[in-house]
Amino acid sequence: MLLRNLWRAALTAAALTASTRADDANNPTGQSTFISPDNSLAFAFTVPDNGNTDVYFSLRVSTKRSWGAVGLGSDDMPGALFLILYRSKNNRDNVTFSPRLAYGNYEPKYYPDLKFEVLDGTGVKDGYMMFNAVCNEHCRSWPAGGTSKGYIDVSSPNQQAVYALGPKESFSDDEPDANLKMHSEYGTFTIDMKRTQGRADLPVLTEDSVAEGTTLNSHSTGKFDWKAAAHAAFMVFSFMLLLPIGAILIRTEKLAKFHKFNQTFALGLVLGGFAFGILASFHYQRSRGFHSLHQVLGFIVILLMFVQLAMGILHHLKWRKTKKPTTFGKIHLWNGRIVMTLGAVNGYIGFGFALDRRYALIVLGIVFFLVMCTLGYIVWAAKRQMPRRQQGPSGFEGLNHSYQQQQQPEPWRSTGYTATVTAAPSYPHDPPPGYEAPSAQIGLQNVTPWRGATPGRGSYEDEPLNLGSSQKPREFT
Ligand SMILES: *[C@@H]1O[C@H](CO)[C@@H](O)[C@H](O)[C@H]1NC(C)=O
Repeated sequence: MLLRNLWRAALTAAALTASTRADDANNPTGQSTFISPDNSLAFAFTVPDNGNTDVYFSLRVSTKRSWGAVGLGSDDMPGALFLILYRSKNNRDNVTFSPRLAYGNYEPKYYPDLKFEVLDGTGVKDGYMMFNAVCNEHCRSWPAGGTSKGYIDVSSPNQQAVYALGPKESFSDDEPDANLKMHSEYGTFTIDMKRTQGRADLPVLTEDSVAEGTTLNSHSTGKFDWKAAAHAAFMVFSFMLLLPIGAILIRTEKLAKFHKFNQTFALGLVLGGFAFGILASFHYQRSRGFHSLHQVLGFIVILLMFVQLAMGILHHLKWRKTKKPTTFGKIHLWNGRIVMTLGAVNGYIGFGFALDRRYALIVLGIVFFLVMCTLGYIVWAAKRQMPRRQQGPSGFEGLNHSYQQQQQPEPWRSTGYTATVTAAPSYPHDPPPGYEAPSAQIGLQNVTPWRGATPGRGSYEDEPLNLGSSQKPREFT
């Protein structure tokens, strides 16, 4: 008797709880609700019992995220129907809804055939983007694209679905086919669709909504496109640092021999960066076709870099025989300038292409710094009245003005004399015995203590560019 009473009391309590549940305006029965682990994304779903193909849904995404999406009909990307939400640009208080399809693990493509009606409550409010709609066509089935998917079974108690969230940054666009960044978080869940069948009405999704009729199966955070990041790192390091260093090296006296190693290493890194760029290109609609400006310019730069390598080798081989400037050298010089300029321009474009325009400022900053250094050098050289077009080592314009890089005193010269040599313009009036009076040009020439034979001084004037005689030992090593 007592037991039965207790049992009845328990049942009453349960019924009361159930009825409280049913009365909860935030969590009505007859809908399935998914809430992502940190509440950045919520999705609620109902299927009307009216025999047509409508489905009602509410999608809510935190404004801290650039975008949020639910993919229906699959536990991975290929074959799913994606319902994507981001902020509108024209009207920051509204949202852009973007239905898309994907048949692989890459940015889904806009699917304009989906027909839907926007319902009340859509917009941006209290830190959330909200989208309420009834979907009239193509929400229950869509092109399978070679997969075995392409539909949802609205009588299934565990229909598969995925969700994804863009990086935590501000983003807005009015176009439903806007370029998006890769997700930083994603996961899989199942939806009980069967239980949602009933009246034709919009599900309820509020701050106090809880997950119901859905199960989170897996989720993963902290994702980013490391291939695109590696591409950027390799390219910026090569184009903004290594290649300019190599261009300076060839103009120096002592380090010119490192030019070829430096530039070959840079080319190797560029090719590595190129490979990462190709791999990253498959991730996005804007790059899968390989015909965007950044990509085409990139292909051209890579091609020109091989031209550059060939011209450098040909120049070197010919110069070794003739010790005269070559046409190859001239092409190498100008092609090098073009490659570095195009590389910098393409870096700037590339950061915009990756939706990271703020990082393009780094490229701008480095270019500005390099240009300032070059201008500074030109002005400084002009002030010192240095002949700017002097031939440097290896048959290129050089920085090897000898009063700029004075050699160590030659053993046959007295130390007292060397001190004045460093201040080239004021030569002593009486040079040490056995030393020929230098011509006016001597201050600009390279002194070559390691060379055994004494050069005929007159030959310097015949050969004002000082082609290589001083470089000979190095060039043959
Ligand atoms: C808000 O966006 C929706 C969907 O993009 C659109 O249908 C609606 O007209 C917009 N509302 C306003 C007030 O701009």
